[in-house]
Amino acid sequence: VQLIRDIEEMKNVAASSRGEGKSIGLVPTMGDFHPGHLSLFRLSRERVQVLVVSVFVNPTQFGPGEDYEAYPRDLDADARMAQGEGVDLLFHPDVDRMYPDGYATYVQVAGLEDLLCGLSRPGHFRGVATVCLKLFHIVKPHLVVFGQKDGQQAVIVRKMIDELNLDVEMMIGPTVREPDGLAMSSRNRYLDEEERREASVLYAALRHAEVLIESGERNPEAVAGRMRALIERAPRARLEYVSLVDARTLKNVDVLMGDVLIALSCWFGKARLIDNLLLNIPSNETA
Ligand code: PAF
Repeated sequence: VQLIRDIEEMKNVAASSRGEGKSIGLVPTMGDFHPGHLSLFRLSRERVQVLVVSVFVNPTQFGPGEDYEAYPRDLDADARMAQGEGVDLLFHPDVDRMYPDGYATYVQVAGLEDLLCGLSRPGHFRGVATVCLKLFHIVKPHLVVFGQKDGQQAVIVRKMIDELNLDVEMMIGPTVREPDGLAMSSRNRYLDEEERREASVLYAALRHAEVLIESGERNPEAVAGRMRALIERAPRARLEYVSLVDARTLKNVDVLMGDVLIALSCWFGKARLIDNLLLNIPSNETA
């Protein structure tokens, strides 16, 4: 795998690959690869000729007091894993080249960023959308691949691609889970043994919601209430939100029907964990 740090060099390599008629795939990441990342590399690897993975812990998506400094960084380990997955280029730009002094340009997807995770992380999705657009311009991908685990991020980036008329196809890879259901995340490293054991309650709550809905429940508050009660049984869980929303607008729904995102965020110790399920719910009329 070739490491590129320089933005101009990355732009030139991307432009010449395009000039040679090669398709480019980009998987944007913040590094610290786990099997969830590797699954996205594989999805993209099958589809493109040049596979670029960006590794950039993006300061503009972290709020004051969040874990920007603590976020795990290990480029050597990442490079080895990328090599093993057949990644062609690792793009790892410097922070002060991405955001030089006086940097002032941001992308905002209004209406979607002040909901769910955006409520407790103001400015987070503005930072995500901004860095994604910058990366898309630098790497010039035909295909970008994101993970369903960051469900709100996926909805926001898709809307940005659509509304800014970007010529890029987006794929969303399924969430990869530990054997007990916990969604893979770099932040799982922050959990101690007890917290780690209890954190499996998050996926259990999502599955419980799915079972309730399968058995005919269509009231979002009833489902959310049962999920909250289950999660609150874990002594170390500090629940932030459980929401059942329209999968496209992220707005609350009155009745569970059609494409619904069940999303949650919960703290265990120092770790803020998120997870979600995307369901297509049939109407109850025939039941
Ligand atoms: O999902 C992530 O790791 C980040 O939010 C992303 C998309 C790489 C932007 O910094």
